Amino acid sequence: MALSLHAENGHNLWLRSKSTGSVKIICSKSSVTLNIAKQELKNSWQGKSGATIELLVKSDPLIKGDGFKINSGKIQANTELGILYGVYELLRHQQTGQSINNEVSNPSYERRILDHWDNLNGTIERGYAGLSIFWHNEKDSFTVTEKDKILWQEYARANASIGINGAVLNNVNASPQMLSSECLKKVKAIADVLRPFGIRTYLSVNFASPAVLGGLKTSDPLDVEVIKWWETKVKEIYSLIPDFGGFLVKANSEGQPGPQDFGRTHADGANMMADALKPFGGIVMWRAFVYSQKEKDRAMQAYSEFMPLDGKFRNNVIIQVKNGPVDFQPREPFSPLFGAMKKTSVMPELQITQEYLGQSIHMVFLATMWEEFLQSDTYQEGIGSTVARCTDGSIFQQKYTAIAGVANIGLDTNWCGHPFAQANWYAFGRLTWNDRLKSEQIADEWLKLTFKPTAQENKTETTVLPIEWNHNFLIPVKQMMLESREAAVNYMMPLGLHHIFAGNNHYGPGPWYAPKGLRPDWTPPYYHQADTNGIGFDRTQTGSNAVSQYREPLNSKFNDVKTCPEIYLLWFHHLPWNYQMKRGRSLWAEMCYHYENGLKQVREFQKVWDKVQPYVDPERFNLVQNKLRKQCINAQEWKDGCLLYFQQFSGLPIPYDIERPVNDLNDLENRNFSKE
Ligand code: GCU
Repeated sequence: MALSLHAENGHNLWLRSKSTGSVKIICSKSSVTLNIAKQELKNSWQGKSGATIELLVKSDPLIKGDGFKINSGKIQANTELGILYGVYELLRHQQTGQSINNEVSNPSYERRILDHWDNLNGTIERGYAGLSIFWHNEKDSFTVTEKDKILWQEYARANASIGINGAVLNNVNASPQMLSSECLKKVKAIADVLRPFGIRTYLSVNFASPAVLGGLKTSDPLDVEVIKWWETKVKEIYSLIPDFGGFLVKANSEGQPGPQDFGRTHADGANMMADALKPFGGIVMWRAFVYSQKEKDRAMQAYSEFMPLDGKFRNNVIIQVKNGPVDFQPREPFSPLFGAMKKTSVMPELQITQEYLGQSIHMVFLATMWEEFLQSDTYQEGIGSTVARCTDGSIFQQKYTAIAGVANIGLDTNWCGHPFAQANWYAFGRLTWNDRLKSEQIADEWLKLTFKPTAQENKTETTVLPIEWNHNFLIPVKQMMLESREAAVNYMMPLGLHHIFAGNNHYGPGPWYAPKGLRPDWTPPYYHQADTNGIGFDRTQTGSNAVSQYREPLNSKFNDVKTCPEIYLLWFHHLPWNYQMKRGRSLWAEMCYHYENGLKQVREFQKVWDKVQPYVDPERFNLVQNKLRKQCINAQEWKDGCLLYFQQFSGLPIPYDIERPVNDLNDLENRNFSKE
């Protein structure tokens, strides 16, 4: 078979298809958003040539918010944006070969937001795909070029195609300058480009802005001048951006200022901002990512600090909680705050950028991790109180529902660095729209949209039959994606291990990393607690008692080593090296096999990829091949580093049917694991 596929640089993401025929559109209205919808239909129509499609903006009791009703001849929605979403759904069905029945599709979350950790100087905190698409550098950060606008429009279109409707434009470690009048003018320019695609603009704000930017003596949230300052600032913002979404706030966390600096609570701080935003319909997303040196267990602090405040927040405040209690690790149990705060709105925060999952080098499909999280049962309101249902309004009557993902987007031509990292942006969007979607379906759709030879290519070159493509490309590559996260857990942190990264950059292994004088909770030994007696963090009732933050039956289940799921074993228990695992091996041996298997899995991924070469254009093929090689090297470093380091405590041999380490511990300890 000799397909000669066009080189693709990945810039078109999952939106590569061109129309194969004409379509007649009936639509009695016209607007910027509806015009985009019509244009998309014309440009990408893959249905019967000459078919008619009606776009109808008319409310229907079955349609909620920006949802839509769709069949092969008609799209109906309450709003114009709903029509646009319906169009993308119809085109996706055509391109992925799914039939269209009469269906109603409503979004799971009302606010579906990307958080950009972009700094005004153009760098991106934890960004691995180039510089910011919004900010260039301090000097000309506020200028706007035509090139910028085209890129923002492409960005907005990609987001709209998967249901994302909000963007926080700057880092949670926010510069007070963000709220300067000069900067807000640029925010307006961005908001104007995003608006027709239904994307609302939000900003991260620095709690000390009144003092630092406004020159006030204090930023105390109960001070009259401070309250006035925020009211005036909010008015200024809405005069420029009438549909402004609201603020995201990281307060009293990792050195950021906050209400506690003035003896006030998170609720005092959040409510003051919420009151200023309320007349304009704005919201406050107040982060629960807090921890301090004083707490005996970092995993417990968010719950300890926020639970006493349940019910004390205004109804336009949403507490934004990271999926796990620590920090976006390869695997964590869900944060116990989900479902527990019953009188306060809560929204999940996911991390799309792979800070702790191989950055833009490793191929790790995150949908499986998010599915595991969203479907975790909190038991808070009986069986079936999944995190998804506790946050999407199914169980609690929240005034607003929302979900956020930390973006993995930068100026790289392919947006995300790794071609497969695009799948994580795609998966996030699809899950925000439908939090019950299965990872398998998401991977299937994304692969078809991103890699299937386009109709034009298939016409002019030797034809690839769909059945052949499915069998030789889709099935093996999908399988690889679905296994990829578990592989990463295996070669990085199996059995509930967490946060054993090399310092600061969070790419390579560093279970040994503990420079003198550094806060213990910033060093891996705090988390793995390895010594000659064993390994793991004791969070049982006789340990830190973090288990008590979970509702029964989870509290007892996690507390008892016999019932604690093995995937969370060392998260909740400190166990001897010779502890007998369910499979009959010792804990030490089991750990060794996990590391070995993780590495083997990535070696297999290389074979899968090499085999699909005939079906992928050379540009994307080579890039992925090259990244998989680097991933293997790093997986080997993880395995060798962790096994050789922990072996110093276990004193046991690495089982002899396991491949021997190829790196010396000393060399690894002295390496600076910056990416690439
Ligand atoms: C992690 C990350 C930081 C980030 C922080 C946050 O700790 O490493 O870069 O600022 O999360 O979410 O606020």
